[in-house]
Amino acid sequence: MLVPTSNPKFGDYQANLAMSLAKPLKQKPRDIATQIVEHLDLGDLCEPPEIAGPGFINLRLKTEYLADQLRAMQADPRLGVAPVKAPQKVIVDFSSPNIAKEMHVGHLRSTIIGDSIARVQEFMGHDVLRLNHVGDWGTQFGMLITQLKEACPEALAADSAVDIGDLVAFYKQAKKRFDEDEDFKTRSREAVVGLQAGEETSIKAWQVLCEQSRQAFQQLYDRLAISIQERGESFYNPLLAGVVTDLDALGLLVENQGAKVVFAEGFTNKAGDPLPVIIQKTDGGYNYATTDLAAIRYRTQQDAADRVLYVVDAGQGNHFAQVFQVAAKAGWIPDGVELTHVPFGVVQGEDGKKFKTRSGDTVKLKDLLDEAVSRARADLEARIQAEERQESEAFIHNVAEAVGIGAVKYADLSQNRTSNYIFSFDKMLALQGNTAPYMLYAYVRVQGISRKGNIDLDHLPAEARVYLGDDTEFALARHLLQLDEVLGEVAQDLYPNRLCQYLFELSQKFNQFYDRCSVLQAAEPQRTSRLLLCDLTAKTLKLGLSLLGIRVLERM
Ligand code: ARG
Repeated sequence: MLVPTSNPKFGDYQANLAMSLAKPLKQKPRDIATQIVEHLDLGDLCEPPEIAGPGFINLRLKTEYLADQLRAMQADPRLGVAPVKAPQKVIVDFSSPNIAKEMHVGHLRSTIIGDSIARVQEFMGHDVLRLNHVGDWGTQFGMLITQLKEACPEALAADSAVDIGDLVAFYKQAKKRFDEDEDFKTRSREAVVGLQAGEETSIKAWQVLCEQSRQAFQQLYDRLAISIQERGESFYNPLLAGVVTDLDALGLLVENQGAKVVFAEGFTNKAGDPLPVIIQKTDGGYNYATTDLAAIRYRTQQDAADRVLYVVDAGQGNHFAQVFQVAAKAGWIPDGVELTHVPFGVVQGEDGKKFKTRSGDTVKLKDLLDEAVSRARADLEARIQAEERQESEAFIHNVAEAVGIGAVKYADLSQNRTSNYIFSFDKMLALQGNTAPYMLYAYVRVQGISRKGNIDLDHLPAEARVYLGDDTEFALARHLLQLDEVLGEVAQDLYPNRLCQYLFELSQKFNQFYDRCSVLQAAEPQRTSRLLLCDLTAKTLKLGLSLLGIRVLERM
């Protein structure tokens, strides 16, 4: 019933319910508004309401109320955001790269967005399980195992520490032989059978491949400060046969050209024929969808999840819609449990085409992060020189890493995730605009004030109060108090760009306030009041950025 006003001259909130009541009550909206206002008890919250235009009710928060709220917020480590009353078990399925294949920019998006979504859920007080649904099983392991056995047998020795090197190149070699050499193909098929039967060398080879990939993935997670628990596709292997028998017993399984399938409603091929979800292939093998069905059962039963969020590219929308539908038909989604595909668009280069290196290769994630960091470093070094500062190598390294990685994450998170996203180093590292550096600067600015004034912002006098006078102070104050609302929205709707937008506007409002109002030079009680606003801005930025997985700097 209440919406924030777009123009401060209408107060802070506006209600238009008098207009919608006019017809059913057969009265003039203005009269209805008058009656509502006469009966409204707003306590100490608002100034007396005003009726405007045809019957809008405008509410303006009392300055005293704003000041009290800000003071309470500043004293609260959670900045006034209460944890949820009924915590849920939330699983976030994200990142999920494939063994021995390239971990590409799509996986990077899933990793960054998934981490932020998990952080927000954790902050709201939910019990979060972060799962890496690694693609570590499937027929492609036949050729990989065979290639490993034949080209790199020493890697299979008991406790060999042999590094197979670039796994992506290794994958390509295996694929090439598989496509060109019939005997190799046969041996690969046998290796798959061996793997499924638990044959020792095949298992060992599979483990070596997984371990090598795992180490490469882990380096990236460490650098991005992301924690995630691996529970790959292979984990669900023992449960796949049960999925088939149970679907069969429920009468949902149909034989279709030798395969066992379920027909989900609403999915057709180009010719308009119904499209089946393949549960078991003609050769007895299982599919990606079968594993996801087993995972749904495990997650809802063993993990007792209330909410499962799949942070996976939009291209897999049909896959999830089908799998969720089959699970629902089978009665595998308990009442009240929510399964949600949280889709995101593709990453494009500045030319609007698929993101590639200049030579047309896929961009390696390590190279991408290295480049962001080295550009951040070049910017920093230029500034240090221009300002004739003396900085240690440790300082430069730390700042460049935080800015570079922070910029990559922020650029991704600040876009509406459902749109395709254009990757641009120049844009993400710009000091102006909706970027990580802009936000980090606003934070650093506050730290500078506290250093310059030799003030410990954490220990402002307990009796200190907020006095709002200037328009920019009001604007900043109102914005600060919206944190709670924004985080509630992000936790529910799973759009981290909403939080980015909030932090961007906060930085802007802070900069406007700081340009207009002197802080250290102001007389008391303004001085302490403004220091409180500065401190609250910094704390909000720090918390908000931490929920995006971005760390702040004291100086930069
Ligand atoms: N490994 C898959 C890929 O690279 C993503 C897995 C997503 N999670 C899931 N439960 N299917 O496309």
